[in-house]
Amino acid sequence: MDFGFDEIVDRNTPEDIKYQKIEGIDDLIPMWVADMDFRCPKEVRDALTEIAQRGVFGYPEADESYDKAVTGWYKRRYGWDVDSKTIIKLPGVVLGISDSIMALTKEGDSILIFEPLYGPIGRAVKGSGRNLVISDLVLKGSRYEIDFDDFERKVRENDVKMLIFCNPHNPAGRVWTREELLRVGDICLKNHMIIVCDEIHADFVYSGHKHIPIASLSEELRKITVTCTSATKSFNIAGIQAANIVIADDTMRRAVDKYALTTGAFGLNIMGLVATRAAYTYGDKWMDGLCEYLKGNIDLVKERLAGTKLKVTDIEGTYLIWIDASGLGLEDPSKFFLEKTHIRFSEGTFFSKKADQFIRMNIACPRSVVNEALDRMLKLPEIY
Ligand SMILES: Cc1ncc(COP(=O)(O)O)c(C=O)c1O
Repeated sequence: MDFGFDEIVDRNTPEDIKYQKIEGIDDLIPMWVADMDFRCPKEVRDALTEIAQRGVFGYPEADESYDKAVTGWYKRRYGWDVDSKTIIKLPGVVLGISDSIMALTKEGDSILIFEPLYGPIGRAVKGSGRNLVISDLVLKGSRYEIDFDDFERKVRENDVKMLIFCNPHNPAGRVWTREELLRVGDICLKNHMIIVCDEIHADFVYSGHKHIPIASLSEELRKITVTCTSATKSFNIAGIQAANIVIADDTMRRAVDKYALTTGAFGLNIMGLVATRAAYTYGDKWMDGLCEYLKGNIDLVKERLAGTKLKVTDIEGTYLIWIDASGLGLEDPSKFFLEKTHIRFSEGTFFSKKADQFIRMNIACPRSVVNEALDRMLKLPEIY
């Protein structure tokens, strides 16, 4: 089935962050911010159009049909049974993470993350007055792994109360295996920690890999986990801001809910509600087609950059390719590529202070654009 992923959609509007103009560049290829250049499924557009046409935008309330759509998606896609009563609706995943930090830990408590990691998560920890503890993922060949000894040692030394985990991991591209998840879970259980698991990239998982919600692994893990999910990455509707936060434990859920009420940022907006419901109801085939298309883009990047000094990390999930550019010996690789090729990548330092030699490439765009970007890169003598 053709979902139109090859089509170039004009995103040159002043409201668009990814396509922001850069002075002096009129042929920019933006491969940075993690949204996609594809139109969302027709059913989602139709649902949004219907609401827009009605022209009344009063306060919304998610009903049974919404709950059914969300829990049905979890069940079909990840084999995960979730009681809809355990879901808190919020305007974003990062908000779900920061509300969990505020509601479930105290000032001065230690919270651990694995870096490199999507920057706003570490910032949410630091901004909350908690102590940020970092365990670096280790690159073994072209695949990232958790250094379990380092993780466990840091948990003990810092009396860590919470792990903020990311699965699939942005930017390391890992879809953590059942064994890895159980080992992470074991350490958290043994040390009486809460797990906040950011699973926003759960639907981008490629052949041979399977997304396993950590909360689905055992009753014990279900009770200590806050799972942050959203349809926004999967269906390219990030601008409408909607997330579903699953918290099975009543006490924990009530605490997060209560905290969210004090911030004024809770519930879904009308567009987030109808788009999420339509996406999760009608989006299965579109999502399957999308993953197939993205895998083709990932393979293309790997194939065409092989033999250069740019080392491409294995991407098992997400549409974000983490590239080690240290072989080029540059001070600022993303600046170099922007100047020389007019491609905008994300800077490695957004994900870890130590990642100044990395760039992150977003390949969620038509294949012709990926090829054009690769053509420009491969013309540079510096990469050989
Ligand atoms: C791992 C991860 N978490 C959260 C977000 C942002 O989610 P939200 O816009 O719902 O806060 C992103 C966006 O790139 C992400 O990659």
